[in-house]
Amino acid sequence: MEMPRHVVSVEQFDRATLFLLFERAEALRHCTAEALASRLRHKVMATLFYEPSTRTRLSFEAAMVRLGGQVISAEYAAATSSAAKGESIEDTARIISGYADVLVIRHPQAGAAARAASVATIPVINAGDGANEHPTQALLDLYTIWREHGRLDHLRIAFVGDLRYGRTVHSLARLLRHCQDIEVFLCAPSVARLDTELIAELITAGLNVQECDDLLALAPTLDVVYQTRVQRERYQTQAEYEQARSRFILDETFLDAFNPRGIILHPLPRNEEIAPSVDRDPRAAYFRQAHNGLFLRMALLEWVFNLLHADLTTSDGSAWTIR
Ligand code: CP
Repeated sequence: MEMPRHVVSVEQFDRATLFLLFERAEALRHCTAEALASRLRHKVMATLFYEPSTRTRLSFEAAMVRLGGQVISAEYAAATSSAAKGESIEDTARIISGYADVLVIRHPQAGAAARAASVATIPVINAGDGANEHPTQALLDLYTIWREHGRLDHLRIAFVGDLRYGRTVHSLARLLRHCQDIEVFLCAPSVARLDTELIAELITAGLNVQECDDLLALAPTLDVVYQTRVQRERYQTQAEYEQARSRFILDETFLDAFNPRGIILHPLPRNEEIAPSVDRDPRAAYFRQAHNGLFLRMALLEWVFNLLHADLTTSDGSAWTIR
């Protein structure tokens, strides 16, 4: 039996595949609804979310529906699936393999998606496993950088906020190893710093990584500011959470200092770390970023079903095939 194509970690993607996905997402964006609507006909996607979500679950479900597939969902899975009766993630994945063609799973435990993938006979997509990884978010983050800046190389990027528990940071930082001439600045309170092993991995891969206390001083030279929410739900005590609460707030003062050609990204949801007044600034790219997730996830669904090279007809009527 052919092995299913899982999306469990960003580690599985090389630079060539990143470009394939980004170019395919771009092509899918320009297709008519009719051209999309039969691509995954008769395919069923199961979404199994043990943690809350707006963007990831709904953009995956929208992507599947727009591609002509169907969705079955357990959105409060911790309470409403048989996990509440003690069923293991492995048994759940085995059962869903008999009902659906792809399983998208979010779980509070690191490694949960990999455990599901180890027994599933259908592709498993990791929609976030604890504080470990969020690979599809990182792919859409990098896709957004590529769209906004027109390149993946020669970038100065600040990661800001909760770098300890921010799984999107862990995944995106790892993806940056495929890019050239990258300077990374880490701006986090001491209780929320990036894991030292991951920093060592990045440095070994050739990234220039520096801790940073003064985001405002860096602002004029940054191409990307990747702001994050402090993950209140992962801190053991209120006191620790209070220490982690960002003192790196993006507001009008930051905008005044920020590179006119820079962009602000955030995986969302946000709390206090970006002032609402920032939304009006064209450099605030986080809502465009969330929208990009729809197209990137369409491309990923095609990738797991090995359809990424199938012909597409774009809205101008021209045939489009991945080079
Ligand atoms: N970025 C992200 O994962 O958002 P949701 O938690 O809303 O899915």
